[in-house]
Amino acid sequence: MTSTDHLIGLLLGTEEDWPTAFTEIMRRLGPVTDGAGRTHAFDVKRVTIEPFDLRDKPRHSLVIDRLAYWYYHPREWLKKIALMDDVYLLNSPFTFQSMEKHAAYCAMMRLGLKVPDTVLVPFKHPVDNARWAYTAARYNRPFDLDEIAERLRYPLFMKPYDGGAWVGVSRVRNSEELHAAYDESGGRLMHLQQSIEGYDAFARSLSIGAETMVMRFRPELPMHDRYAVDHSFLPPAAGLEVATISRLVNAFFRWEFNSCEMLVRGLDVHPIDYANACPDVALTSLHYYFPWAMAALARWTIFCCATGRRPRLDLDTTRYFEIADRDDLSYGEKLGLYGQLADEYFEVERYADFCASRLAAVDEVVYDWVRSPEFDALLVQTVRATYPAGEHDRFVAHFRGLLGSWVGDQERSPTGR
Ligand SMILES: Nc1ncnc2c1ncn2[C@@H]1O[C@H](COP(=O)(O)OP(=O)(O)OP(=O)(O)O)[C@@H](O)[C@H]1O
Ligand SMILES: [Mg+2]
Repeated sequence: MTSTDHLIGLLLGTEEDWPTAFTEIMRRLGPVTDGAGRTHAFDVKRVTIEPFDLRDKPRHSLVIDRLAYWYYHPREWLKKIALMDDVYLLNSPFTFQSMEKHAAYCAMMRLGLKVPDTVLVPFKHPVDNARWAYTAARYNRPFDLDEIAERLRYPLFMKPYDGGAWVGVSRVRNSEELHAAYDESGGRLMHLQQSIEGYDAFARSLSIGAETMVMRFRPELPMHDRYAVDHSFLPPAAGLEVATISRLVNAFFRWEFNSCEMLVRGLDVHPIDYANACPDVALTSLHYYFPWAMAALARWTIFCCATGRRPRLDLDTTRYFEIADRDDLSYGEKLGLYGQLADEYFEVERYADFCASRLAAVDEVVYDWVRSPEFDALLVQTVRATYPAGEHDRFVAHFRGLLGSWVGDQERSPTGR
């Protein structure tokens, strides 16, 4: 019997909660045996930032990245280990650097999804480049922002083409607000997008590899209250559609750790945001869903390493567009076919089989750990690091309640574990 050691690297910013949780779950789980009887041992370590020789051989099998979207030295290291060493990345900077929100809107519109109508307007302020004045004078066409807004119809959203964390997002109801938002955009490139008004539900899904959790989201509330614990907030057909679109977007762009946002009005599902290279997995945001996220991250990481799943840097756009371009298929039929491509990309069958036969212990390990004093200590420590002193007691009680309710639900339906 052979044994393989896998080093999992965590490239982290300020977060302590989920890395502690993930490391502990992997430790408690111990080695995993694959179908051929080979043993796989896992060690999780935080990646440090230092000079690297481009010909160095990394020790990692897989790296979970939370940093490259703003810190470029580690980003370039990730590119090197992806291109030269086939290290598995969640996520690859290649896909995220070029495929921001704008590219995702374009691709999903081409696939026929109900993305609200969107216009990209030129920069408000001059671009910082000596050639700008000449180029702009010669080629920039004057345009009537009011006319664009009226064509799209108020209310609208003006938001950065590559946005995140709600920065620079404004809801505009009239010409005055439109011009104020555009003036404020300065050097940022902005989309003007139709608003989906009067929606019934805001669905935010978190996908980790082949697993997707669709959650009810309330963006108007403070962060700790945004994810509602509500298992049947969508009609079943809309729930399935949200999950399918999430998997489609992720398979299309090779995003394996991502969140997607969709507004559901009646039976229509409108995707509005789905390129989050560093999705929120904070204990204080996900609360009830945090144990699932940690279990899924452990399962997907182990699956990728133990089965030797190869990272894919190339996209399969043609296969998706061939379906999109057919006139004989309805929207539902196309979604069904996209879903099959997504299943193929994420190897859902092999993954399900691997989880059932090799990783059955994960749920039990996570369940035991969430009930342990170590988990409670992490919860308290995270609350202390997140909220002002006067609010510690209140938030500790709040999150203990939510995690306690998760534990209760597992006890009520043990087969769900
Ligand atoms: N077309 C739209 N119709 C209705 N609401 C919208 C639309 N676009 C954006 N919003 C609202 O604005 C919020 C922020 O927009 P968006 O998600 O695109 O930006 P973001 O910067 O990526 O935000 P975050 O990082 O919080 O997801 C959304 O959560 C939603 O509440
Ligand atoms: Mg968003």
